[in-house]
Amino acid sequence: ADRYAVFGHPIGHTRSPCIHALFAEQTGERLNYTAQDVTPDAFETSVREFFANGGKGLNCTVPLKELAWKIADLRSEDAERSKAINTLALCQDGTIYGDNTDGIGLIRDLKINLGRTLESRRVLLLGAGGASRGIIGPLLEQGPSRVMIANRTPEKAVRLAEEFCGLGPITGCGLSDLGAEAFDLVLNATSASLTGELPKLPGNILRTGACCYDLAYGVEPTPFVRWGQEMGADISVDGIGMLVEQAAEAFFIWRGIRPDTAPVIDLLNRERR
Ligand code: ATR
Repeated sequence: ADRYAVFGHPIGHTRSPCIHALFAEQTGERLNYTAQDVTPDAFETSVREFFANGGKGLNCTVPLKELAWKIADLRSEDAERSKAINTLALCQDGTIYGDNTDGIGLIRDLKINLGRTLESRRVLLLGAGGASRGIIGPLLEQGPSRVMIANRTPEKAVRLAEEFCGLGPITGCGLSDLGAEAFDLVLNATSASLTGELPKLPGNILRTGACCYDLAYGVEPTPFVRWGQEMGADISVDGIGMLVEQAAEAFFIWRGIRPDTAPVIDLLNRERR
């Protein structure tokens, strides 16, 4: 069986091996997907070793996505723009191809699984770190009427917006500047959920029928998902769907087959009920 793995630090709670095992079973592909704790210092050596020993593809997660971008010989447009890579594939000629499937994973979850439209919608993106950077390009491609990046440190949001302003209507501000405008979609791309925190948000930023979406996920609803429910969002969900969709996209890059994501999302959701 061909070998694949996810590298991250820490890596303990990753669901990726389970997801890819389900994809393999469903499609009849023979592959072996493991998880490996790899520190940033050991990253390059570990990647080279993995591919030299017959590995075919890697996923890279926090905090290795920017390093993965540096290691790739060839990059997709999404990867190039986001300066971060979550999927590496070994090509026939030994070169390493890199893509970032996070953005497309998010868009597919929003549009196909959750039935949300993004065209002409107002989008609020919370956070200006790597997670935000990875999804801005694919978001703007959907034709929202505007995307506002709001960050605890306002300057980072302004700078990030400037970097992407050629792709569509995007601006940056501080979390404390929010409150004057309401949005159809609020995406939490801060790392606050990872420590059980909630970005400081005013109460009047959701339009009727709004969707709240946390890129993070957990066994319990995240503080942001709870916040969305309390504020009366139409739906308020975490990023388990995005996780499965970005994995499906990686699987497609590696194997040329697109697995059916719905039964896998259902299974992961049932597990935590
Ligand atoms: P990632 O790659 O997950 O995006 P990152 O690059 O370290 O991680 O960025 C983390 C983001 O979450 C930042 O936008 C950070 O805000 P600052 O730039 O002001 O640091 C945001 N963040 C983390 N904890 C937060 C909290 N408790 N409230 C609000 N924002 C938070």
